[in-house]
Amino acid sequence: MGTGYPTRTAIAYGRPSATSAADNTGSGQNRGVTADHYFSTRPQAPAKPTDVEFVAAGRTFRLSAAAGVFSAGRLDPGTAVLLRKANLPSPTAGGALLDLGCGYGPISCVLATVAPAASVYAVDVNARALALTRTNAQALGVGERVVAATPDEVPPDIRFDQIWSNPPIRIGKGELHALLDRWLPRLEPDGIAWLVVARHLGADSLAEWLSRQGWFVDRHASQQGFRVLRITSPNKSEDAGPLGAENA
Ligand SMILES: C[S@@+](CC[C@H](N)C(=O)[O-])C[C@H]1O[C@@H](n2cnc3c(N)ncnc32)[C@H](O)[C@@H]1O
Repeated sequence: MGTGYPTRTAIAYGRPSATSAADNTGSGQNRGVTADHYFSTRPQAPAKPTDVEFVAAGRTFRLSAAAGVFSAGRLDPGTAVLLRKANLPSPTAGGALLDLGCGYGPISCVLATVAPAASVYAVDVNARALALTRTNAQALGVGERVVAATPDEVPPDIRFDQIWSNPPIRIGKGELHALLDRWLPRLEPDGIAWLVVARHLGADSLAEWLSRQGWFVDRHASQQGFRVLRITSPNKSEDAGPLGAENA
């Protein structure tokens, strides 16, 4: 029986094409995506700078991207659904937020902008993505609060009030589970994780797996073939109020 989402083996059969390897849409429409970014920390493709413009939280963002990072040609449709449907942090939110698999930084830049008292850890394995995230955060004036880092560079004692991720589904089930097993336990007891996953890439299977690990999983929203999952800890304190503001 199929698991619902891709295995690394399955990906190895169809070695990443120039446009689809990293595409959480699975549509092959992720213009500007190059094949090597899930499999190398230093993309070999020439950088070929691109601009990505999108609206989130009522404002327009213009970010720099480049070949060799995920969805360098436009805001990924899954990320757009996440930013539209999940509850962005309130303007008074402080603490530490994690953008897991930050790419060129669209989620980090939005989080740091809407929550001016928060620190955002933007984590990726791709050095080019991290450099772009730093550049974009600095250009927006939030560079001092966005820490772009590889997973091992994040101080081990930091706990996160929120984790946001358009996760790298196509690294395969085993690695994806390991990734989530590594970072979700670093949520504060009352923290919330927001994930976006394409339904045809196994959003529901992933939700079931997370539930089996003991997490509370709410299928918060669905749009354009994506599910937005809201994940909270079973250790959540009884009287905790909402951490995020409802999106309009
Ligand atoms: C689906 S992309 C999302 C990128 C970005 N957040 C966006 O919305 O455009 C997933 C990202 O996860 C990164 N990634 C892959 N394996 C990772 C790992 N083990 N730890 C952290 N990030 C990883 C990839 O390099 C890629 O940038």
